[in-house]
Amino acid sequence: MGNGYTCPDIELLPKLSEIFNVSIDYILDNNSIEKGNEYNKKYQDDNFYWGVEPNHLCYEVMKILPPIKPYKILDMGCGEGKDAVFFAKNGYDVTAFDLAESGIVKTKKLADANNVHINAFVANINEFVPIENYDIVFSSGVLDHISESVRSDLLNNLINHTNNGGIHAIQLFVEKPFLEKAPAQKWKSGELFSFYTDHEILYCNEYIFNCNSGGNPHKHCSNKIIAKLIK
Ligand SMILES: C[S@@+](CC[C@H](N)C(=O)[O-])C[C@H]1O[C@@H](n2cnc3c(N)ncnc32)[C@H](O)[C@@H]1O
Repeated sequence: MGNGYTCPDIELLPKLSEIFNVSIDYILDNNSIEKGNEYNKKYQDDNFYWGVEPNHLCYEVMKILPPIKPYKILDMGCGEGKDAVFFAKNGYDVTAFDLAESGIVKTKKLADANNVHINAFVANINEFVPIENYDIVFSSGVLDHISESVRSDLLNNLINHTNNGGIHAIQLFVEKPFLEKAPAQKWKSGELFSFYTDHEILYCNEYIFNCNSGGNPHKHCSNKIIAKLIK
């Protein structure tokens, strides 16, 4: 493979699953190291692969919890940091991580260029365990990279580590039978919603859009949700 990562022999999977105390599904689904590597390459040059304009979801977050104090925000899978830096510039206290090291390097550079500080580090969302509480958990285009077997643990952990009245703002891709399957792990329609039934859904939107990545015109279905946590 030439990238330092290799795939385990299929016959070793039950043993690996036992040793690392994770399901076989998790090991097979866990192609995010490869993905992170793929993004690592995309982020190498000086251009910003995703641009530097913040995601629309950032403005929705600001409307709900405007920065009247430095709310603590966690941006999971921050890419090259456009959203994390936007939040920091607007007075939020930002922690951000991504699997792609080159993305974290660029996030820090973008923060420096804007005279703001971000606590940015490399981490794998499949293994991420929050150790502090946040007011806002933000994630755009990243939860598609977590394996099905860790979805529930991760989201419930994050809910437990979000302050009362805090929010989760999440965008991910949803599976549709009439759309081509993406390489990432799409979610079922309504699946994300189901984690927040005890909370208040402030915003929920599912829509289909055209994409031309890789020079191949196709469509995706996106789901955006903002939930306010009631504890
Ligand atoms: C579609 S990009 C979105 C980036 C950023 N949120 C944005 O909107 O500009 C997906 C990001 O998820 C990151 N990613 C993929 N797998 C990951 C993992 N297992 N842990 C953390 N980040 C991961 C990639 O490196 C990439 O930066």
